[in-house]
Amino acid sequence: MCAMMPDLEGYFRGLVPRTDPLLQELEAEAARESIPIVGPVVGELLFILARVTGAARILELGTATGYSGIFLGRAAAANQGRVVSLELDEAMATRARANFDRAGLDQVVEVKVGEALTLMAEMSGPFDLAFLDIDKESYLPALSCCRRLLRPGGLLVADNVGFTGAADFNQEILTNPAWRAIHLLSFLPRHSPEHDGLALALRVALPGKLW
Ligand SMILES: C[S@@+](CC[C@H](N)C(=O)[O-])C[C@H]1O[C@@H](n2cnc3c(N)ncnc32)[C@H](O)[C@@H]1O
Repeated sequence: MCAMMPDLEGYFRGLVPRTDPLLQELEAEAARESIPIVGPVVGELLFILARVTGAARILELGTATGYSGIFLGRAAAANQGRVVSLELDEAMATRARANFDRAGLDQVVEVKVGEALTLMAEMSGPFDLAFLDIDKESYLPALSCCRRLLRPGGLLVADNVGFTGAADFNQEILTNPAWRAIHLLSFLPRHSPEHDGLALALRVALPGKLW
């Protein structure tokens, strides 16, 4: 049997997918301004998940400058779909819209400004995939909105589930029969932070209920 790599994290740091100049610019800007973006590994994971599931209707909670939204938008475009991304901060939303424009995704990604829970209460689904990346204390209340807005068989991806604010959410998604969920403790180079958890959950169709 062969041995593990001696410096596992250093080795995996060398396996990070390359990003294009626009994403590199957003990575540098995020590092300069301490904007907590998902980085290239989770970005690519989002792209792959959206592509393999053929997600055409994607909901993102927490746009920031549009970094993760570009990965989701590119997958949605390839799936002939669209992304709706929710952002509390008007100035961030303006920056994100400019970045979606630069990425050629202005017709693919729509940014809505406001508190995600309030905006979601006024929205109707169904969505195929939802990505949760807002303040962690809102994860649990956002879960019931995601349950309503995601179609049965839809996918929920939650970032930063290693934060204490996500503890109630983590328990709920594991025990509520509306979801089948896993939590992955991960080393994620250039993610904020690099050691964190991700949750992936399938929205289960409950007997006798459409949503
Ligand atoms: C972690 S950053 C998102 C990073 C982005 N997903 C990326 O990786 O490029 C979280 C963003 O969500 C916004 N936000 C936080 N709480 C929110 C809420 N309750 N509703 C809407 N937006 C929120 C913040 O203003 C911030 O821009």
